[in-house]
Order: sequence, then C-alpha cells, then structure tokens
Amino acid sequence: MDAGPLVADPHDLELADVLALLRTGRIEVEGRLVDASNATLFCSLTGDGVQAACVYKPVAGERPLWDFPDGTLAGREVSAYLVSEALGWEVVPPTVLRDGPFGTGMVQLWVDGDPEVDLTRLIRADLAPLRRMAVFDAVINNADRKGGHLIPMPDGRVYGVDHGVSFAAEDKLRTVLWRWAGKSLPATTVETLRGLRTDFATCLAPQLAEHLTRREVRVTRMRLDRLLGSGCHPEPSGEWPAVPWPPF
Ligand SMILES: Nc1ncnc2c1ncn2[C@@H]1O[C@H](COP(=O)(O)OP(=O)(O)O)[C@@H](O)[C@H]1O
Ligand SMILES: [Mg+2]
Repeated sequence: MDAGPLVADPHDLELADVLALLRTGRIEVEGRLVDASNATLFCSLTGDGVQAACVYKPVAGERPLWDFPDGTLAGREVSAYLVSEALGWEVVPPTVLRDGPFGTGMVQLWVDGDPEVDLTRLIRADLAPLRRMAVFDAVINNADRKGGHLIPMPDGRVYGVDHGVSFAAEDKLRTVLWRWAGKSLPATTVETLRGLRTDFATCLAPQLAEHLTRREVRVTRMRLDRLLGSGCHPEPSGEWPAVPWPPF
C-alpha cells in the first residue's frame, strides 16, 4: 500500500485538508485503544496521498449513560470540537461525525503528544494553555477532564480529548484544573468569550443543534453568559464530585 507521508500533527496540513481526510479517508482499525467501557478504536486513515492516525468511536459501541440520555457521546465530542474552533483556541483535535467500519461514529485526528511531559506536574502548572482549557471546560460543562485527557504537544500547546460526557444541561463540571477557581478571567479570554457570545445564535448554535438537544444548546449559551457576567473562573458547586476519579 502506498500510504504517502504520515501526518503526525494537524499543523502539517491545512485544516480543510485534515477535515477532508477525516470525512472521506479510508478507515482501517488497528486496535482497541484502552480497556474502556465504550469502544475506542485506534485507526489509520488513508486519503489522497496522505495518511494519518485517528481515533474512531462508533456510536454502536457507546454504553448508555443515565445522565446523558439524549443524543450520542460521539455528537458531544464533535460539539466540543465545534466550540474549540468557534473560540479559535484549537484545543480539540479536528473531529468529525461519519460512517465507519462499525457504523456512524466520531473520528478524531490522532495527535502525537510529548511523552516527556509529566502529567502529574502539568495539571498543577499555571500555564496559559491549561487556563484556556479550564475555561473551555466551563463552557462545554465537561464532566471528565482527567490528566490523561490532556495531550501536551512538543511545542507547548495542549490538546484536550474525550469530551463524550460534556454539554449536560445540569452543571457537571468535573476537572483536575481548578487552580484558577474564583480568579478573574484574563482580559483576552473575556474578549474571546464576548465574541463567541455575539456570534452564538448565528454560528455556533445551529451547528450544536445538530448534535445536542435544544435545551443543551440554550444552557451552553447561559453558561457563556454566566462566565461573562461573573468575569471569573467557576468554582466547584459542591453538589457534584469536582474532581474526576481516578484523576488520570
Ligand atoms: N486524538 C487523540 N490524539 C492522541 N491521543 C488520544 C486522542 N484521543 C485519545 N487519545 C489517548 O487515548 C486515551 C483514550 O482515549 P479516550 O478518548 O479517553 O477514550 P475513552 O472514551 O475510552 O476513555 C486518552 O486518554 C488519550 O491518552
Ligand atoms: Mg478517557
């Protein structure tokens, strides 16, 4: 098989080309990624002279969750990507919903993290990319930001993965990134969130509505309003375990 060059980082290709590869590339399952309750498959993706690695999570492999009865976990992962792009923060690797060997699922570009980074230290560091991730998680209401769901890149950027349990209508923020709780949001972050709020109805809401319930979309807008209203990072509510277990 002439696979062409291996694409290890989305920045090696234009985003439109990465998305085209994710949408139309040929998926070959290489193996199951982890011993998880949901099927998470590591795959190769081959397109027009390019090959990349990806994660494929078929909807058929999703275990029903009592607190996420509507839609699919795959749709929530795609929604997280849409928010990441709308913010312009690129904190989620390019992610699409498409047909695959086990039916419709989410397909996400595999990104090669820096294996030298110690995640136990990383999650305690006061770094701008992590702080943005904390705000991103507050917007999407991420219920599972563990250390292992952070992928630090060799150039200092940090990606987040595994956003299947996000966008619940009830507050469920569960994360290892609480170090900025209650602190004022950086001015640039406020500006970015304001921009997103202005464009919400025209740009983001219709896209999210393809994957989430109307209530979940509306509550996402309300979370944005709440962040902008307080101007601060959220604090643990006390009603829900604030840190995922295990934390990695
Ligand atoms: N797009 C990705 N790029 C690089 N590593 C990834 C990617 N997606 C997942 N991983 C790695 O695989 C692990 C399992 O994937 P995850 O999405 O957490 O699956 P699960 O839903 O089964 O927990 C993650 O903790 C992360 O280390
Ligand atoms: Mg996981």
